[in-house]
Amino acid sequence: EEDVIARIEGKRAEAQLGGGLARIEAQHKKGKLTARERIDLLLDAGSFVEYDTFVEHQCVDFGMDKNKVTGDGVVTGHGTINGRRVFVFSQDFTAFGGSLSKMHAQKICKIMDKAVLVGAPVIGLNDSGGARIQEGVDSLAGYAEIFERNVLSSGVIPQISLIMGPCAGGAVYSPALTDFTFMVKDTSYMFVTGPDVVKEVCNEEVTQEELGGAKTHTVMSGVVHNAFENDLEALQRVRDFLDFLPLSNLEPAPTRYSDDSPHREDHSLNHIIPVDSTKAYDVRDVITRLVDDGNFFEIMPDYAKNIVIGFARMNGKTVSIVGNQPLVSSGVLDINSSIKGARFVRFCDAFNIPIITLVDVPGFLPGTAQEHNGIIRHGAKLLYAYAEATVPKITIITRKAYGGAYDVMSSKHLRGDMNYAWPAGEIAVMGAKGAVAIIFRHSEDRSKAEAEYIDKFANPLPAAQRGFVDDIVLPAHTRRRIIDDLEVLKSKNLKNPPKKHGNIPL
Ligand code: COA
Repeated sequence: EEDVIARIEGKRAEAQLGGGLARIEAQHKKGKLTARERIDLLLDAGSFVEYDTFVEHQCVDFGMDKNKVTGDGVVTGHGTINGRRVFVFSQDFTAFGGSLSKMHAQKICKIMDKAVLVGAPVIGLNDSGGARIQEGVDSLAGYAEIFERNVLSSGVIPQISLIMGPCAGGAVYSPALTDFTFMVKDTSYMFVTGPDVVKEVCNEEVTQEELGGAKTHTVMSGVVHNAFENDLEALQRVRDFLDFLPLSNLEPAPTRYSDDSPHREDHSLNHIIPVDSTKAYDVRDVITRLVDDGNFFEIMPDYAKNIVIGFARMNGKTVSIVGNQPLVSSGVLDINSSIKGARFVRFCDAFNIPIITLVDVPGFLPGTAQEHNGIIRHGAKLLYAYAEATVPKITIITRKAYGGAYDVMSSKHLRGDMNYAWPAGEIAVMGAKGAVAIIFRHSEDRSKAEAEYIDKFANPLPAAQRGFVDDIVLPAHTRRRIIDDLEVLKSKNLKNPPKKHGNIPL
């Protein structure tokens, strides 16, 4: 019996070392932490409970029957982040390059199933050479089993992917299906086919970094929601991020009270909108003045910067913020910003996070590039997302709300719960110059007509007189007003007609 216990403990100790000390050293040399070190930094100290420590692959081909690593290249289990339960898998690059075998996939599927069963997020730490080449179709099956679970868990529990090494081929699609994907700069990359295949098929020379590094995915492709300097920072930031999210769609997000008074008035907000309505300002300066402690967790800060999205707290409760960004292309809506906004709004709706929309939008971006690439279809995504959302929706028109973009940006007509304008609000079909150029095309005295148009529409009164905005509020009073409204809307219970699912324009 002692013999058996010694054997078990021997295996357990083996599992701690993954692919062995030499490979651990190689991992460290690359500036990467090991799978277990990462889990220790991600979770509260001592909270990790491991599953399937003893799992080994079952492959007998290519001499694999003599080549086993206890745990088979992935560490799985659960633990807590600031006291709240999460499930986690962490791929171990030191064991078969973290490649995904049938058993490796089964370990991941097991914790995904448990997470849905008990209602807790899944955080995946990805560091893998892809499908275990020796196993062939078994490992492809493994991927698809994970994908199916990603899809069925979508909207039920938050799913977060952190890419901390290679992630190529089929491996990319699990992160792509999760709610948020983050990368570590310089040490991680994601692509469907690597540089060698790209060279062969397309005759293009490209490095791994150019093809699928952190910069590529945070700036150009929009595949990834943010990138961090190193493993340590990435894991720390994911901890902070998780604090904004509920554990499941049946639970409220955690409350984290701070010293920032709900009654705080920020008088600098009264002067933040430039008098000249063609001048820009940074919507993030508005956001950080409205929310608790100026703490704003921005999502996709480097992609489609003409819209700003992210999480914050007001009176301790998680809110999501969507704001047009006048600093970038006047905050115009285009294909990329519509898609960025739409997916975010849908996440927040799925997880019952109130949406606060800051509107300063001159319209949709004109041009053949946008039209030919489908701005109609993609713009419709944002419209659809806002229209279907049943969470509390509070909208502040800080300045321009022009044309169809006015309708899209959480307008009253899309069941906005509380819609406000600041005194600088201008709600019209278009700017005065453009409007006059069309309706007074033949007129001699356009400047008079323009002045009249400005007088009529370049203020929030016409919309307020029709009840399209509920009130005109001073910027300094906005924080207090939003917090009061969130309290009122706490018991909002709106349901859409029953259906299998809607058909969002994709
Ligand atoms: N299946 C099985 N073993 C794999 C593997 C895979 N998909 N990917 C990597 N490994 C193994 C390597 O054989 C190596 O084993 P060893 O330590 O016993 O020599 C170990 O993992 C580390 O890989 P290595 O190539 O030395 O690391 P690297 O950092 O130089 O390169 C990759 C990393 C991912 C670029 C490279 O391993 C690679 O191209 N892997 C194959 C990717 C692929 O085509 N996957 C299948 C399609 S999804």
